[in-house]
Amino acid sequence: MRKIFVLIEADFILENYNSNSIKSGNATWKTPSNIALVKYWGKRDPQLPENASVSFTLDACFTLTTLKYTKRHSKLNSESHNGGYNFEVYFEGKKKEDFKPKIETFFKRVEQYIPFLKDFNFIIESRNSFPHSSGIASSASGMSALALCLMSIEKELNLKMTDEYFNKKASFLARLGSGSACRSIEGELIVWGSHKDIKGSSNLFGIKYPNKVHDNFKNYHDTILLVDEGEKQVSSTVGHKLMHKHPFAAQRFKQANDNVSKLSEILQNGELKQFIAIVESEALSLHAMMMTSNPYFILMKPNTLKIINKIWEFRASTNSNICFTLDAGANVHILFPEIEKEEVNNFITSELIQYCQENHYICDRVGIGAKLVSNN
Ligand code: DP6
Repeated sequence: MRKIFVLIEADFILENYNSNSIKSGNATWKTPSNIALVKYWGKRDPQLPENASVSFTLDACFTLTTLKYTKRHSKLNSESHNGGYNFEVYFEGKKKEDFKPKIETFFKRVEQYIPFLKDFNFIIESRNSFPHSSGIASSASGMSALALCLMSIEKELNLKMTDEYFNKKASFLARLGSGSACRSIEGELIVWGSHKDIKGSSNLFGIKYPNKVHDNFKNYHDTILLVDEGEKQVSSTVGHKLMHKHPFAAQRFKQANDNVSKLSEILQNGELKQFIAIVESEALSLHAMMMTSNPYFILMKPNTLKIINKIWEFRASTNSNICFTLDAGANVHILFPEIEKEEVNNFITSELIQYCQENHYICDRVGIGAKLVSNN
């Protein structure tokens, strides 16, 4: 049996490199969003999860990012604007000054691992396949795309780098931008967070679920009902912080880790009813944490609950394997196996679309991960 070596933080520090060999270039990555089955909610510095989480990588919801880089002649001193980094950000063709602080924070966190950041001028151009105001978190796909673009530069500096290391370090860097982003590098099922039952798992990066997955979960569908397309009332960052003094925190982290063990069995044996029970319980437990934090908040809307009840009625009357999950918002992700797509799609269009804002919804499914579009 192959021994699995788990990489540690020091393994991700780039040393002895010479960026003089690169004058300019660009890299474009298309990177998917992901939907957690077991949720990450609660973290400690530096962006380490309090429990392991498991997600399906998506396909239709993605970010496309191009990173253009040109060699800088002199490093700005670190007191200068943008923390000493020189970059511009464009989102859907428009210059975005308000995106800069988040990227600067990301650069600060990752600079010790990719010290060439101050050697270049960067232009970051990004767009999403889903509407920006859809309430779908773009941090997972956005941060993972940027991390992958930066890894394309590192690859030029170290041509011998293996694909395995490339993906692990991309996930490691993406995590430092947004925790869930580390689950958006590969597909189809990703585990992030060190867990006794998942070989090779780590708090530092996401890994592909290492065991054989039952065919029931191949091509799984995720139709996202856009219930509330507004900006989120509470950012994930604030939500994670509220887990620090949360009265149920320890119990919740244990529940999530237990659910990872149970889900791991289910992914192998294909028991869809058990899958539903875990996934829906995880979604409601996540929202229960929000409702019982101090301050407390409710991100579900009346239509979120109407959809959930409709799903439960449909399941009871048809024995379908449809189920729902939720992000930190009001939108509902409807998960179902490929084999049931016709009945479920009919049900969604006839019974559920009426609860979406302007009848908006997105048909997505499980995907295989990020793709390099071009690298020159
Ligand atoms: C509810 O990854 O957005 O979607 O690490 O602060 O960027 P930061 O948070 P983020 O949190 C995602 C929370 C979640 C659950 C999940 O995706 O596991």
